[in-house]
Amino acid sequence: MPTALITGATSGIGAAFARRLAAEGFSLVLVSRDEHRLAGAAGQLKLRYGVSSEVLPADLATEEGLARVESRLAEGVDVLVNNAGFGNPGRFPDVPVEDEVRMLKVHCEAVLRLTLAALPGMRERERGAIINVASVAAFFPRGTYSASKAWVVNFSESAAADVGDPRIRIMALCPGFVRTEFHRRSGMDTAGIPGFLWLKADDVVRAAMRDLALGRRVSVPDPRYKAIVAIGRLVPRGLQARVSAAIGR
Ligand SMILES: NC(=O)c1ccc[n+]([C@@H]2O[C@H](COP(=O)([O-])OP(=O)(O)OC[C@H]3O[C@@H](n4cnc5c(N)ncnc54)[C@H](OP(=O)(O)O)[C@@H]3O)[C@@H](O)[C@H]2O)c1
Repeated sequence: MPTALITGATSGIGAAFARRLAAEGFSLVLVSRDEHRLAGAAGQLKLRYGVSSEVLPADLATEEGLARVESRLAEGVDVLVNNAGFGNPGRFPDVPVEDEVRMLKVHCEAVLRLTLAALPGMRERERGAIINVASVAAFFPRGTYSASKAWVVNFSESAAADVGDPRIRIMALCPGFVRTEFHRRSGMDTAGIPGFLWLKADDVVRAAMRDLALGRRVSVPDPRYKAIVAIGRLVPRGLQARVSAAIGR
């Protein structure tokens, strides 16, 4: 039975990946910090899909947590979804530096190290897939969050090119606003975000899996956001920054 390891698997987009991969018959390794919630998620997946899940509690902002997940990946997985992430309340330069660094650890260091830990087994078996969850924010200036997600996109594209084996797929996933716990947890005021911009996590994952199968290296789910990214590229960076700063802070 193929195995998929998903970080941030207890909520939102990560939980949607867990449901989708369970439905496809993967056995799962579920990673997040909350051990109790992980056990609940594993139980639900067993009930609904009959799959077994290992629970792997780990804080990906810590050396201990990263090392634990690296060791599990070294045993071999078929699919890795680097999904765990969060936003910090406030805007630069008011966000405490330790919170900014924690974000860089989870969004960048963890993605780098877990990708490196998963790749040797995938290269040996000559197959595998790594999905790194970035954001549409990667294409717009929006503080350390967007800068870290721009790193995820650039890293995923270059890793895919450097590995250079079409049987090992590496893809950055760039969703727009998705209804999850993300905004409440990051203290974001979402009142000004128009309803038509909200996506469902299951739809995002469906689009991601389709783009992965097509061999895309960057996936922007939904035509609305494809258009926003395309138009955004035509707008001067200064104006992009002003518009971006006004939406959902
Ligand atoms: N929702 C959106 O609008 C949106 C848009 C674009 C991109 N994204 C990206 O999508 C990804 C998933 O976000 P979401 O919207 O699904 O958010 P969410 O509902 O808040 O879920 C975040 C998940 O990450 C885990 N997590 C957070 N910090 C962690 C850490 N230090 N170590 C291990 N696990 C950690 C959480 O579990 P614990 O708290 O138990 O650790 C939870 O399972 C993130 O990378 C986010 O940046 C979200």
